[in-house]
Amino acid sequence: MSDPAAARVAAMPRTIALVGLMGAGKSHIGRRLAALLDRPFFDSDAEVERAAALSVRDIFETLGEPAFRDGERKVIARLIDGPPCVLATGGGAFVNADTRAALMARALCVWLRADLDLLVFRTEGRTTRPLLMQGDPRAILGDLMEKRYPVYAEAHVTVDTRNEPSETTTARVLAAIDAYWQTQDRTDR
Ligand code: S3P
Repeated sequence: MSDPAAARVAAMPRTIALVGLMGAGKSHIGRRLAALLDRPFFDSDAEVERAAALSVRDIFETLGEPAFRDGERKVIARLIDGPPCVLATGGGAFVNADTRAALMARALCVWLRADLDLLVFRTEGRTTRPLLMQGDPRAILGDLMEKRYPVYAEAHVTVDTRNEPSETTTARVLAAIDAYWQTQDRTDR
């Protein structure tokens, strides 16, 4: 690995968990980051879908949101027990107190913070997110921002995402993780 920051972060014995609202780019950036670090990539939504053999939308419709949340909690608990990876979490995962505590203790949590216009733009026209199909997506996202941003703010690292090439965001995420990790007391690793 020629980039020293990437080499340091790759050697970090912790999973990197990306948290934040729908449309923040957790899966997209997570996949790129994993490739850069030569780590496996997981997406908690995809893992829940695989376990249930149903799409997120169908799980919400047929089994209900609590069943989805339960699956999400189990999938994340399993993944953070495994070898270090990059994990894109569903937007509601970090809001669950147990999941958040587990992620904060075992993973390095990165909040991808985005403004409302960007989230609306990035989620527009998609039909895969049941929460955004229950009314006006802008109003729903605005409401979720109000409720969830103080919780996401507990993540170890915050990175603002903008409408910029994903390599640029990925590089900023990497630099922020590297800077954070270098401030950590080695005995606490
Ligand atoms: C949700 C976010 C979605 C998915 C589900 C619920 C949420 O994931 O887990 O639709 O509560 O914010 P993404 O954040 O990956 O879109």
